[in-house]
Amino acid sequence: MKLRPKLCIGISLAPTWLSGEGWRLPGSGIEGLYSSDFALATARAAEAAHLDFVFRPDASFLPLPVMEQSFGFSSLDATLLMTSIARDTAKIGLITTISTTFGHPYLAARQLMSLHWLSQGRAGWNVVTALQGNENFGVSEMPSSEARYARAAEFTEVVRRLWASFPADALLIDRDAGRYADTDLILPINHRGPGFEVQGPLNLPAFPGPGLPLMQAGGSATGVDFAGQVADMVFGMTPDLASASRMREALSARALAHRRAPQNVRLLPGLSLYLGKSRDEARALFQANHRRVTRAQRIQRVQEATGIDLSTWPDDRKVTLADLPKAHNSQRSPSHCALLRHIVEADSPTVAQLLARPEILSSVHWQIIGTPEDAAIEIAAWHEAGAIDGFIAVPGGAPESLRLTLEDLVPRLVEDGRFRRNYQGQTLFSHLTEE
Ligand SMILES: Cc1cc2nc3c(=O)[nH]c(=O)nc-3n(C[C@H](O)[C@H](O)[C@H](O)COP(=O)(O)O)c2cc1C
Repeated sequence: MKLRPKLCIGISLAPTWLSGEGWRLPGSGIEGLYSSDFALATARAAEAAHLDFVFRPDASFLPLPVMEQSFGFSSLDATLLMTSIARDTAKIGLITTISTTFGHPYLAARQLMSLHWLSQGRAGWNVVTALQGNENFGVSEMPSSEARYARAAEFTEVVRRLWASFPADALLIDRDAGRYADTDLILPINHRGPGFEVQGPLNLPAFPGPGLPLMQAGGSATGVDFAGQVADMVFGMTPDLASASRMREALSARALAHRRAPQNVRLLPGLSLYLGKSRDEARALFQANHRRVTRAQRIQRVQEATGIDLSTWPDDRKVTLADLPKAHNSQRSPSHCALLRHIVEADSPTVAQLLARPEILSSVHWQIIGTPEDAAIEIAAWHEAGAIDGFIAVPGGAPESLRLTLEDLVPRLVEDGRFRRNYQGQTLFSHLTEE
């Protein structure tokens, strides 16, 4: 199934190209991490490559141990960051992340519509139910996935109704008649639900142009159903083609169930890119970047994903499918579990080989370690298979990997007819719907 002829491409502003050992490179610019110039430089480069959007994931907690070796989850507030780059960019979409588990819909509706105005129609909202952080909001235990999605559905509905409560048409600014607004059109929403009571209206008119597209990140059945209902884009975690195809099919089914066109729910998997001018260079970059991931950490990742504890196994012992627990339920990522089972089934790697695999060392996203040409070929194959509508680039290893992504890989996709040569419109919505 081929959904749209052109790819939708975004890039993560979480500076993944400086994670691991990347920040230690001379000239990495890491000292500027908490300044706006830092993200602005990437946003400008992404705009020069005509990407659909820059995107900032966000979380409200700080796992301390990783901070010894890298910047971890420390970051500027995502929405403030986007606001600071709105003024110095003109066309690229700006997608921020706001959690529905810890925030309040009135505040979120106002912040997001403010960003939409300040960027003249370029804002987007990544709706997350969050995995951690309850202790920072007076919530004793993380609510269940079901409870979080129920709240997310109510939160999102309230936000949308608030946006509609002060329509752009209500703004008259009629100097001659002395009428600023038509208050007959500005109406309360009087929402009374299980999670929120919000009277409205919003104290800000809707931007007079296309609305704010929503992105969703979360792969459970409930998460996919929620995406089918509300999302324009899905930030997927699909490490291989088979899992992307399954996700694409599931999203299409849930979109149709909610009477929406499948092509309006775009699957954009995270794509971790370790790019070099040669494959050897890319592999060396990847290995250098992960050299401080300890054996204990690797073993823990295998255990989390598959249930097997390799801590007492010798390096040269082979791991076979029969060794893996059949019933393990990987909470973090069922796709990662399936991928590792597939690797073990196909290769029966030794413990040492398994612990050196990129799928263990690095992210559970789709991962390409190679040249820009390798990446362009693989992306084309996934696109041709109808498994993806685009991707969110997560360049890793070094600033050079980021540069190759934007200045070498993306132009190849343009030459191939898979990506725009120029922007046709000025809003995020217009980029998403361009043919
Ligand atoms: C690719 C991906 C990206 C995510 N990004 C964020 C994020 O930036 N901030 C956050 O709080 N949660 C994030 N989450 C967590 C989800 O919002 C959600 O809470 C979690 O995936 C559990 O839902 P699920 O069971 O449907 O996957 C992300 C999840 C996925 C799969």
